[in-house]
Amino acid sequence: MSDIKVLALVGSLRAASINRQIAELAAEVAPDDVTVTIFDQLGELPFYNEDIDNEADVPASVTALRAAAAEADAALVVTPEYNGSIPAVIKNAIDWLSRPSSDIKRVFGGKPFAMIGASAGGFGTILSQTAWLPVLRTLGTQVWFGARLMVSRSAGVFDESGALKDATVEEQLKKFVAGYVAFLRRFAG
Ligand code: FNR
Repeated sequence: MSDIKVLALVGSLRAASINRQIAELAAEVAPDDVTVTIFDQLGELPFYNEDIDNEADVPASVTALRAAAAEADAALVVTPEYNGSIPAVIKNAIDWLSRPSSDIKRVFGGKPFAMIGASAGGFGTILSQTAWLPVLRTLGTQVWFGARLMVSRSAGVFDESGALKDATVEEQLKKFVAGYVAFLRRFAG
């Protein structure tokens, strides 16, 4: 069976993002035949604008995003929680990917999505993960709900060298990735 490609969309652009570190760890603990690639141009995408969504004007970052999505078998949304809801950074990428609307079925339809997230507060992105649901349902994705990873009090999770301080988070992440990968394998048949 060929390798499974997972596109990770990380919703925080800051260099020391905990969500990014969690995404990197997910890529590390995934088995060898599952490649988790973090799309690293989310910060370069302009806000969605129909006036530039044409062959002549579409920015290179959008073309790269669309190519990465077309190549991916699955997607992992790694979401912070902003003001009790989803971060604009990922939503903007999703909006670019959802146009033209005739592409929605090909890009999102039945695609195995999963969500994880880390937040500074005590509830570990429960509100943003919940707020993602109508978006993912609208696009016809198939979200895996077999486990949850909601990292709370995220500032204390990694040390300054980038090593994970919290063994519980590591355990939860490994369990999450193992479950999601099993789902992806069943999905791939
Ligand atoms: C936040 N933060 C936050 N945290 C939370 O638990 N619930 C919330 O509603 C919000 N709202 C919010 C809004 C905005 C605009 C910012 C910038 C931040 C704090 C947030 O969880 C914290 O900054 C995380 O560390 C962000 O994730 P990264 O950057 O570490 O990946």
